[in-house]
Amino acid sequence: MSKNLNLWDKAKREGRRLSFITAYDCTFAKLADAAGVDGVLIGDSVGMMVGGDPHTLFVSLEQMEYHTRIVARGVSNALVMADLPFGSFEESPEQAFGAAVRLVKAGAQIVKLEGGAAMADTVAFISARGIPVCGHIGLTPQHVHQFGGFRRQGKTQEAASKLFDDAVTLADAGARMVLMEAIPSDLAREITQRLAVPTIGIGAGPGTDAQVLVMHDVLGLNPDRAPSFAKAYLDGATLMREALEQYAGEVRSGSFPTTPEADLTKLKS
Ligand code: KIV
Repeated sequence: MSKNLNLWDKAKREGRRLSFITAYDCTFAKLADAAGVDGVLIGDSVGMMVGGDPHTLFVSLEQMEYHTRIVARGVSNALVMADLPFGSFEESPEQAFGAAVRLVKAGAQIVKLEGGAAMADTVAFISARGIPVCGHIGLTPQHVHQFGGFRRQGKTQEAASKLFDDAVTLADAGARMVLMEAIPSDLAREITQRLAVPTIGIGAGPGTDAQVLVMHDVLGLNPDRAPSFAKAYLDGATLMREALEQYAGEVRSGSFPTTPEADLTKLKS
């Protein structure tokens, strides 16, 4: 139901809450899609989750293109959103449009970029040329050095009202969605009520139209690095380690494989 962006607008009007999750490859994207998750985000968090980087700043546009292509291949129903990585869009609207085109050609239906009112012209430029854009405000990880770490945003009245203005300005510029990360719930709810376009929250409380989480956090794959607002629905790290220990143990002991030769007739294509 969610392929078409207009359906997301309709869901907002009807008060139906939608889910997003990050995915970085075809296998995980297929699982999310089959589970009925409404949107799949190829986040630049790929650098941290898959690459083990300390932040998202090392991710290139080429990497984002590759991961977008292999995620889109696994998705039939969910909306496919891809991040414009650090350095690929800030210089000018033209630079941003060029990068957005590459992600759309790789399979994205909407691109996400970090930044508030300062990015309004860029959002307007890309949107006017036919590419839907999601604005990302609050804790924008690409600004980690400016923030001095991954810190909650919008804590003072002044900071909150700046974020409110950012959200309204982005929506007025043509953003089809606004994602809010690690900001106070009340503020996220107020912004959601003010905007006609859907809002997506992460660490922003229950008052947004949609929620997004990082796949590795939902599956409990990186428990030591998960932010406090994330929820693990599975102890994936333990389950996977146990499976791998069992496999290694069986190979060591000789209990796997059980047949002396590979049975070629049973190989999957
Ligand atoms: O890159 C990412 O995974 C994101 C989410 C945390 C929203 O932008």
